[in-house]
Amino acid sequence: MCPLCDDTGWKTIEVDGVARVTRCDCVRESSAARLIAEARIPRRYQHCDFINYTAYNEQLTKALHHATRLAESFPVVDRGLFLQGPPGVGKTHLAVAVLRQVIRTRGARGLFYDTRDLLRVIRSTYDPVNRTQEMDILRPVIEADLLVLDDLGAEKTSEWVEETLNLIVNSRYSDRRTTVFTSNYDDNPDSTDPDSLLFRIGFRMRSRLHEMCEFLYLDGGDYRELPPNGGVDDLVTLWKTRSKASRKPTLPARSTSQARAQLRDRERDPKGGELKWSGGRAGSK
Ligand SMILES: Nc1ncnc2c1ncn2[C@@H]1O[C@H](COP(=O)(O)OP(=O)(O)OP(=O)(O)O)[C@@H](O)[C@H]1O
Ligand SMILES: [Mg+2]
Ligand SMILES: [Zn+2]
Repeated sequence: MCPLCDDTGWKTIEVDGVARVTRCDCVRESSAARLIAEARIPRRYQHCDFINYTAYNEQLTKALHHATRLAESFPVVDRGLFLQGPPGVGKTHLAVAVLRQVIRTRGARGLFYDTRDLLRVIRSTYDPVNRTQEMDILRPVIEADLLVLDDLGAEKTSEWVEETLNLIVNSRYSDRRTTVFTSNYDDNPDSTDPDSLLFRIGFRMRSRLHEMCEFLYLDGGDYRELPPNGGVDDLVTLWKTRSKASRKPTLPARSTSQARAQLRDRERDPKGGELKWSGGRAGSK
């Protein structure tokens, strides 16, 4: 039983000496709890917040600042975030912190998906004749007020993967919906490096992402290597050790010729996929 409203959902408050009836806090809390539960945040990341994020260098401080600002100004935001960097620097942590805060404070419909999981689910419903089931998965992803797409680029790319991701990203872009991406891949525009973001996701997607997101590079140590009672000093040491070794994470390699061939295909067929989304948000431009 709610002590404020006796479970009626309404409580009486006093404004300038006048009694007013308003929605009880318990209603707001239970709908926030429901929205958090529906957001598909993995159990391992359910603790993630801004206050338990340690920013021990300039880049992490900047990332924390941008993430906090996005959550505070939501839904009045121009661009989402693209969080890049090596493993264990807290990209997913910050993305989830934004997601949880906008759900709690704005009642936003938020959704978290690991990109590979999402593609796997969509693929499992794929039927070239009847696309109803596929659209049932895609609709909430496209229409979520805030979407976190974790680990972009991790999926081995193919025409189908590109088509599907382009559909999601372009639909959200057209409807001005905010998306937060995380990725391990370097955003190196001129590179012939098969491990660059460009090669993983293609020209069209990369340029779209630059329009819709603020790109932030997070550099730091791998938090997963922090000893149980380790502190900021240990994190700084891990970071320094990593910077010295190499700035680049070890990633599954693809041959340069394979990547070049793919790039040529994209140049030849810049329009690509044929899937279209027609269910835009009413009244939005
Ligand atoms: N700066 C930090 N402050 C507090 N916790 C952190 C920080 N960085 C990472 N963590 C914690 O360490 C774990 C790993 O972080 P996270 O998964 O966010 O890293 P990531 O950058 O997304 O790595 P990956 O590239 O492997 O996906 C999480 O439990 C997260 O809460
Ligand atoms: Mg991550
Ligand atoms: Zn109540």
